[in-house]
Amino acid sequence: MRFNPNFLDEIRARLPVSQVVGRKVALKKAGREYRGLSPFKTEKSPSFFVNDQKGFYHCFASGEHGDIFTFLMKTEGLEFPEAVERLAQEAGVPMPKQPERNVADEDQRDRLYRLLEASAAFFEESLRSGLGAEARRYIEKRGLQHETVRAFRLGFAPNSRTALTAHLKGKGFSLADMASAGMLIAGSDIPEPYDRFRNRVMFPILDLKGRVIAFGGRALEKDVPAKYLNSPETPLFHKGHTLFNAARARSAAHDKNRVIVVEGYMDVVALAEGGFAESVAPLGTALTEDQVKLLWRFAPEPTLCFDGDSAGRKAADRAVEVALPWLKPGHSLGFAFLPDGLDPDDLIRQQGAAAMSDALSKARPLVDVLWDRELRAAPSDTPEQRAALEARLFALVGTIQDATVRSHYQRELRDRLYQLGRNRFPRPMAGLPTGRQGGGIAQASYARPVAAPDWKARDRARLNGPERRFTKKNNAPELVNASPELAGHMQSVLPREALIMKTLLNHPWLIDEHSEAIAVIEFSSQPLTALRDEILAVHARQNSLDRASLGTQLSKSGVAKVVDLVARTITHISDRFAEPDASATDVEAAWNHILALHQRQDALGRALKAAEEAWYRDCTEEAETHLLDIKRQIAREASMDQMDTEIDQPADDTPIVKRAG
Ligand code: UTP
Ligand code: MN
Repeated sequence: MRFNPNFLDEIRARLPVSQVVGRKVALKKAGREYRGLSPFKTEKSPSFFVNDQKGFYHCFASGEHGDIFTFLMKTEGLEFPEAVERLAQEAGVPMPKQPERNVADEDQRDRLYRLLEASAAFFEESLRSGLGAEARRYIEKRGLQHETVRAFRLGFAPNSRTALTAHLKGKGFSLADMASAGMLIAGSDIPEPYDRFRNRVMFPILDLKGRVIAFGGRALEKDVPAKYLNSPETPLFHKGHTLFNAARARSAAHDKNRVIVVEGYMDVVALAEGGFAESVAPLGTALTEDQVKLLWRFAPEPTLCFDGDSAGRKAADRAVEVALPWLKPGHSLGFAFLPDGLDPDDLIRQQGAAAMSDALSKARPLVDVLWDRELRAAPSDTPEQRAALEARLFALVGTIQDATVRSHYQRELRDRLYQLGRNRFPRPMAGLPTGRQGGGIAQASYARPVAAPDWKARDRARLNGPERRFTKKNNAPELVNASPELAGHMQSVLPREALIMKTLLNHPWLIDEHSEAIAVIEFSSQPLTALRDEILAVHARQNSLDRASLGTQLSKSGVAKVVDLVARTITHISDRFAEPDASATDVEAAWNHILALHQRQDALGRALKAAEEAWYRDCTEEAETHLLDIKRQIAREASMDQMDTEIDQPADDTPIVKRAG
């Protein structure tokens, strides 16, 4: 659906961001902005800001940034049109009519929803009736409580070829619609159409709005061709896009910031009884990329559960391959391997919910599973074998589309390969670090730079190379005879990035408080990234650095030249906070401001790229609306930026920074 920009602006104008966000996050007024604890990351000191004038929120801890619509999408997992619909209603702005949809299709969908709802009610009723006695015994034997049966709307399809058809006919539904909905098996080669589901315990499959769109049926008898039978693809049901229990799991997932993915219907039901309402399952197929993307709308790191046996490992390996191309900063998968031969249903019933929690807490990050898989695939005892291992790993990592995530994977894997080569890295499954406590991949590799492996030394050598070639002219950094490679890097240093660095170098006390935010700053130039990593490494060895000792330590490292370059960057009068003599209050305020600015522009830049890609790929109207919307945000941001510069430009004797009180 395409939304008119004026319509979206009307909603934005009526709903302050602080009002929408304020329902989820306790906000405190801080100058022109509001401040609170990040809803995206667990934290003790607030680094989440809301600016009603600009219509944005920004989270320094996670880099998340957006408006009221993205906030609902991110925190409640809604699709853009759903978020618009909800907020339009709240704002009292009427939704635009949608003339584009084909009326006949729309009518048919409508009938199918009603037909499937009537089928679900019929199955529920049959389970309660005399016909359902055996099914009730089966359900009891499996240990399900009445409450669960009601909540999941479990039912029973009677052992008859016509029971459902007759019931639906009585309600006025046509045979054609019954067949389209997947409930009736019919066709030119089938003389007598018959009910698809017979003598089965029925699990309704709901869409995100809670409407019945399909069924899964568990056979009561042992000797049937399929233990579970699922609805076929229909106009309402697309297996690969749907997850069993998604509607109910979604809100639980947002509350717990976690979603659990298991293989079967019964596993989901048992998990719900065990207190894990945030559980879903694919529908008899391996997890698809669409399902992974759907899961990321529920929680940033869905945990997939697998059997610890070889089939389970294979399934996990497949899931890794499916997810790799789509990894995004902060978004990944965790992998929990259950004790041999047990599925979550077995585990909970035999050993209790605590055993399940235990297995979940031992979930391993995707990078571990990837590493293990390739290490298991072939020996890695000789340099040649390790080279082959490296080639395999990097081919896989090459499929990661997000450049930042890809480079962190490359770093992490080079690190592991280096350690493997030195025989210091443990063999697969011999107690690899699970690395979950630290959370993201970014932190894992940031915790490491002290033990820099050889590739870092290589980077250092590269940076040290053109040492004598810098010269000073007009106070601006300039390169003379630098290697083309380095010259390219240096020319791409943006003034704002240099300013961020200069501020850090002159006021290293900022690192004590902001190290997490610093660790995830996206610099567009590699030397600045290297300098940042080195600063954090120095800081990891010694907290509460002063300017002089930071300078001394950096001058001994490979990034000394970058430090010089940054120091020589011209600062404007309004950037005086970057200079050593600025007061701590000014520095702190200006730091928050400039970092927010940088992150906003960086996030918008990336959002623009993704939106353009989506638009080229899908050519849908939603994609186009989204793209135009981001372009407008960028234009608006640019004009706000302009205004800020004018506002913040101090006269010579006024405090340097006025905003952010
Ligand atoms: P399992 O065979 O592992 O069964 O199938 P289960 O979930 O443990 O079920 P119970 O405990 O025996 O009742 C896992 C999932 O694979 C799909 C279903 O979605 C099932 O929940 N499946 C399985 C099918 O679609 N068809 C089948 O014939 C078997
Ligand atoms: Mn089972």
